[in-house]
Amino acid sequence: MTDGLLKVAIVGCGNISRRHAEAYASTGRTELVATADPVDGKARKLADGYGATPYANVTELLAAEDPDLVSVTTPPGSHAGIAIEILAAGKSVLLEKPPVLSLAELDTVAKAEQDSAGSVYVVFQHRHGSGGLRAADLLGRGALGRPLVAVCETLWFRPRSYFDPEWRGTWIGEGGGPTLGHGIHQIDLLLHLLGPWRTITATAVRLDRPVEFEDVSLASVTFESGAVATVINSLLSPRELSRIRIDTTGGTLEVNHVYGYSDQDWTFHPAPDAATAAALGLDPGVRKANGAESKEPAAADPWSASAGDDLPSNHEAQLGHLVDDLLSGRPHETTLAATRPTMEFVTALYASAITGKPVDRADLTPGHPFYQALHGETPKDQLSRSFRPT
Ligand SMILES: NC(=O)c1ccc[n+]([C@@H]2O[C@H](COP(=O)([O-])OP(=O)(O)OC[C@H]3O[C@@H](n4cnc5c(N)ncnc54)[C@H](O)[C@@H]3O)[C@@H](O)[C@H]2O)c1
Repeated sequence: MTDGLLKVAIVGCGNISRRHAEAYASTGRTELVATADPVDGKARKLADGYGATPYANVTELLAAEDPDLVSVTTPPGSHAGIAIEILAAGKSVLLEKPPVLSLAELDTVAKAEQDSAGSVYVVFQHRHGSGGLRAADLLGRGALGRPLVAVCETLWFRPRSYFDPEWRGTWIGEGGGPTLGHGIHQIDLLLHLLGPWRTITATAVRLDRPVEFEDVSLASVTFESGAVATVINSLLSPRELSRIRIDTTGGTLEVNHVYGYSDQDWTFHPAPDAATAAALGLDPGVRKANGAESKEPAAADPWSASAGDDLPSNHEAQLGHLVDDLLSGRPHETTLAATRPTMEFVTALYASAITGKPVDRADLTPGHPFYQALHGETPKDQLSRSFRPT
């Protein structure tokens, strides 16, 4: 750290790296010192706008520079190895999602973190918008009631050409389909809001895209709190949507967006008072007769009352929080350890879909067949059969 500035570097100079560079710059409290990418010209192109020095790889970067924090924005299959190298140099790491490709990799990186002066953080920007922060706080305090039923949807569209880069569509490069690579954003937010999950029963199918894994997955989930949820992740959905809806004893909390939400994308519909609720339970014809359904929910509710500054859930939000936390010596909450339940969830979803059996979170120990890899080292023909729609 020099002059109160956090020295940052970026490894992997593709699409999302620019968002990291811009988000760091927007804090006004960082200095981008270096970039690295093996593809000719990519590191330089990113570095040039920020006065940073380009390198061909993370090893050369770490040998020459002394960053406080390194963003890893490479394809997912390379995250663990690069993170371990950065940690071995005593630096902190910000891993893009998905942080790693398996629980085994996660635990190896966690071990390297224990032995390092550095820490590992993960990009899950939807935890960091003002709506997500309010939702986590209010649900955590019980102010919105007890969660009962939730729906978590990632209905996105990726054409066949999306899978042209050679790392896409493969277990080795991408690590998994929309469950790991796309739905993981909403899954992470759902788990962040609802707390520990307990069991998953899932299906995953490959309907259209040229991939080794699923292009759609569906899961039904139970939580330790007793709440239940359904989760769907699709890359086949032309009208795109990202949605989490949580029905609690106090009302319905919902966020409806695509790649990032603002406050206006969140709604809370309070549960009706006892008389209205009783009328709502009646036959619709009777309801019309007594007019009870026309009663509007009360204007002032805990959700509306908590409104403040609108912070959209983008890279600026999370990287801004991270830089503030690191510069002020506060712990930053979106650590590798804090995101383990999300990787456990993804692991269990694949395990359940591939084996056809429910999976308990408690089963996911190092001896579990899906601990080492999300495909559970299942033979190729069997794997192919498990993703075939029946
Ligand atoms: N948080 C989000 O909303 C979000 C959005 C998009 C992508 N991502 C994630 O960001 C990561 C990168 O995605 P992308 O779309 O930018 O991919 P990309 O293919 O556009 O860029 C990856 C870059 O990494 C470089 N690279 C590959 N191996 C490397 C290595 N060993 N060392 C240094 N550089 C290396 C490639 O040359 C390429 O320039 C992925 O993990 C992806 O899931 C996150």
